[in-house]
Amino acid sequence: MAEPISIADLRRLARRRLPRMVFDYLEGGAEDEGGIVRNVEAFRKIRLMPHRLVDVSERSTAVELLGKKAAAPIVVGPTGLNGAFWPNGDIALARAAAKAGVPFALSTASNATIENVAAVGGRLWFQLYVVHRELAANLVRRASQAGCEALILTVDVPVNGKRERDLRNGFQMPLRYSPRTIFDILTHPRWASGILASGALKLANLATTTASSLDAQTALLRREMDASFCWDDLARLRDVWPRRLIVKGICAPHDAARCFEIGADAVVVSNHGGRQLDDAPAPISILESFQGLGPVLIDGGIRRGSDIVKALASGAHGVLVGRSILYGLAARGETGATKAISILVEEIDRTLALVGCPDASRLSSAFVGHD
Ligand SMILES: Cc1cc2nc3c(=O)[nH]c(=O)nc-3n(C[C@H](O)[C@H](O)[C@H](O)COP(=O)(O)O)c2cc1C
Repeated sequence: MAEPISIADLRRLARRRLPRMVFDYLEGGAEDEGGIVRNVEAFRKIRLMPHRLVDVSERSTAVELLGKKAAAPIVVGPTGLNGAFWPNGDIALARAAAKAGVPFALSTASNATIENVAAVGGRLWFQLYVVHRELAANLVRRASQAGCEALILTVDVPVNGKRERDLRNGFQMPLRYSPRTIFDILTHPRWASGILASGALKLANLATTTASSLDAQTALLRREMDASFCWDDLARLRDVWPRRLIVKGICAPHDAARCFEIGADAVVVSNHGGRQLDDAPAPISILESFQGLGPVLIDGGIRRGSDIVKALASGAHGVLVGRSILYGLAARGETGATKAISILVEEIDRTLALVGCPDASRLSSAFVGHD
């Protein structure tokens, strides 16, 4: 393929390079995958209203994200098992984000440790899954010591979503080898040589934590979270975490209001990219109902820079991007992740010019149109 110019191009390259079961893990969602489709289509339904005869000769995609300037309203979202897409995938993403001047959110289910990723530099956020209270407390301490500027607590995984592609493919950690998976791997030698040479994938944070009981590791591998985690626990987390606290996976405005009452600094309106509750609403479709509550980020279905412009014009402070950047990572490692971010940033810049808003931080509902 010629040089990729869109996220869709990177997706095609990723699909070619990855074994089917790994691509399915990246791409797939819960049950009938209606949530994934709605996330993407909800953006397609929104129109932008161009303002004419505005001087757009100088433009800026920069915004303030959690009190600090970011080069674009983008956060590289937390995704588990990035090492399955590219050797040292977490480090590759952290470097791409730092180079682009945007934050990187490291998942609890990462293959690199918090400390190794922190050594890359750049803005680091740590995403917390509470699989085990003692383990969570340990991870929070480590994230704080490593200098993570924000903690993102993910609250939409009380139990694992029913991801039928993964169930059919036997995609789990450690990988289960069947004749089909072996054939899948052998027919993708470029992926296999890189990944197999870098050793067995480990959930590095858990493997290196002193609270790591076998129970806790098994729970995370199966994505069996502590389903009893509730509001009082959030309040306790607020007490012990010294820096910015973000709650990810909120859909109901009354839940967002409660997060802000407890002292959260922001919420991420998210349905986990359609990977948890298949019937949860598309975040961009419900964003308006969060107006005035506090700082809101959204994610889910962002495949174009214009989607990010729509999110900001609809009231979001910024967006988290999952699959679009993972396509780049899976296609070409750090170079591909950098490419994905630069495609999105270039598209934001072009869209700002076309809608007559030279400054991303000045987007408002005045730029949302209707057919
Ligand atoms: C492969 C993959 C792994 C993910 N792992 C996590 C995770 O470990 N923690 C988390 O909070 N969200 C996780 N997510 C959800 C993303 O953070 C984000 O909410 C979602 O990908 C946004 O939708 P998009 O992929 O359409 O951009 C994952 C998503 C994908 C695609």
